[in-house]
Amino acid sequence: MRITQGAPGARVLAFGHYQPANVVTNDELAKTIDTSDEWIRSRVGIVERRLASAGETEIDLAVQAGGKAMATSGLSADDFDLVIVATCTMETQIPNAAAQVADRLGIQAPGAFDVNAACAGFCYALAAANDAVRAGSATNVLVVGTEKFSNWLDWTDRSTAVIFADGAGAAVVGASDTPGIGPVAWGSAGDKSDAIIIRGRDSFLQQEGQTVFRWATTALYPAALAACERAGVDPSELSAFVPHQANLRIIEAIARKLGAEKAVVARDIVHAGNTSAASIPLALSRMIERGEVESGGLALLFGFGAGLTYAGQVIEIP
Ligand code: UT7
Repeated sequence: MRITQGAPGARVLAFGHYQPANVVTNDELAKTIDTSDEWIRSRVGIVERRLASAGETEIDLAVQAGGKAMATSGLSADDFDLVIVATCTMETQIPNAAAQVADRLGIQAPGAFDVNAACAGFCYALAAANDAVRAGSATNVLVVGTEKFSNWLDWTDRSTAVIFADGAGAAVVGASDTPGIGPVAWGSAGDKSDAIIIRGRDSFLQQEGQTVFRWATTALYPAALAACERAGVDPSELSAFVPHQANLRIIEAIARKLGAEKAVVARDIVHAGNTSAASIPLALSRMIERGEVESGGLALLFGFGAGLTYAGQVIEIP
């Protein structure tokens, strides 16, 4: 047997994102649900979110975001040999999203698989892409986080309906001479698997909000720090911290403990809601677009959610 030689390093070459056109404010939700703009802003931090139209699927969102990341990378469809889609809201159990996304983007016969680690999914998928390029299993990888959460919400349940939203973000990962993606720090807490759950095909998302809130604000900080340590980066060197956009209070709590004084902290939840596996690439892509972070700076990505699962890594911003 011969071991194929991989690349010395892998890096994110470009990000892209897509949000559905339909903006839904808290006041609009309060017309049909017993809630208020004040409660949602103060408890979760959301001002507005985007919801896909009836005919717009999570595949459509992924194709839009993936196409933008591909265009920004300067690579063509022929350059890709692996597509990974992180999602937990597919309408169909079979087929997966990745093969369909690849086909719609003109990528011929790539390896194609989905990752379901819920809101941590993008960081798991990015780790798989990094390892694939470094091991020589792939040359260029399209990694997409996409969710149409609106399909899986009980629109009479105020504890979830005001939080989750739709959107997609994508990254292109390719080979490089020096590493631009640090080793992943990942883990899970399967003893809390009931805390965020869709029990079956006829049910909706249910969440024990306080259980997840306590876990996220107390147990996760060491894993975020471990991601920095594994990359040999001190939090003071980070120019951006991009955690999963679950709740502004959770984001602030982890950021405070991390003590990354220089880092711009992603607060995309304010205008995008919680888009689960899409939230990290969506937030960072929008920060890059607005010029809030500089190319070459170090960003800590950190996802967490159902499973319960978590994962994070430091990347060099493209
Ligand atoms: O992305 C996946 C990972 N998920 C998370 O990280 C979620 C973590 N959890 C959270 O973000 C928060 O727990 C929530 C935002 C889900 C809830 O916030 P909370 O501060 O923990 O509220 P709570 O569940 O303790 O509810 C407090 C009160 C309750 O009323 P009573 O019993 O005190 O009278 C709820 O019934 O707020 C009520 N409530 C609402 N009121 C107005 C719950 N949802 C709403 C609402 N509008 N939408």
